[in-house]
Amino acid sequence: MIEVTNLVKRYRDLVAVDGISFKVEKGEVLGFLGPNGAGKTTTMRILTGASPATSGKALVAGFDVFEQPLEVKRRVGYLPEQPPLYDDLDTRSYLQFVARIKGLRGEKQKNEIERVIAACNLESVRRRRLGELSKGFRQRVGLAQALLGDPEVLILDEPTIGLDPNQIVEVRTLIQKLAEKHTVILSTHYLPEVIQLCKRVVIVHRGRIAANDTLENLTAGGRSLEQTFYDLTQQ
Ligand SMILES: Nc1ncnc2c1ncn2[C@@H]1O[C@H](COP(=O)(O)OP(=O)(O)OP(=O)(O)O)[C@@H](O)[C@H]1O
Ligand SMILES: [Mg+2]
Repeated sequence: MIEVTNLVKRYRDLVAVDGISFKVEKGEVLGFLGPNGAGKTTTMRILTGASPATSGKALVAGFDVFEQPLEVKRRVGYLPEQPPLYDDLDTRSYLQFVARIKGLRGEKQKNEIERVIAACNLESVRRRRLGELSKGFRQRVGLAQALLGDPEVLILDEPTIGLDPNQIVEVRTLIQKLAEKHTVILSTHYLPEVIQLCKRVVIVHRGRIAANDTLENLTAGGRSLEQTFYDLTQQ
């Protein structure tokens, strides 16, 4: 479903992504881990067509991200690290705006908006201006816009950051449910989340792959995922 080959991204003299390759199978939730600045967000932005790569190849849902970015965008729901919310719009109007961009019209649009409002527990803020929402609610609106249109691939950059414990549980349950029908790349610094949701994990470190393995192998012999992460990302 996702195939990344030798992806490189340079920002002037900084190599943020330095030849990354990995695959994600249909229906898989891939844990995408790495220390701050490792290149996770940069890679995810490239996979959604939000930013060009310097070189390399990426196929998402059967389409080349660089040659057919519109086809890719249509099939990918993206929760960016900082969701681009328009502070003057209320929650519903914002979701309507995103739904229109995604080509949803009429009854389908209305149903989808109601579906994501329910899925992300946004009922109580549907008429509130986004600029007035708390951080956790803004995060949930970001997740809701990613789910609009029920795209087959979801790329979620730290989806539970800033959420209260109740919402963390609910969003994780939601991701678990989505995993049945969707392919997900999930970046997070909360390792319990990875243990709950992912069978396979990619760890990036300084723009390179430090591990691409099953959770089972990464925690073999009773080692914690934290310890494995630490050992692989110290050099
Ligand atoms: N627009 C940009 N211009 C210049 N350098 C950038 C830009 N965006 C990211 N970088 C650099 O690229 C590297 C990778 O950043 P990236 O945001 O992908 O890391 P990350 O793994 O998502 O980290 P975090 O866990 O902190 O979110 C960092 O050194 C960062 O400073
Ligand atoms: Mg990041």
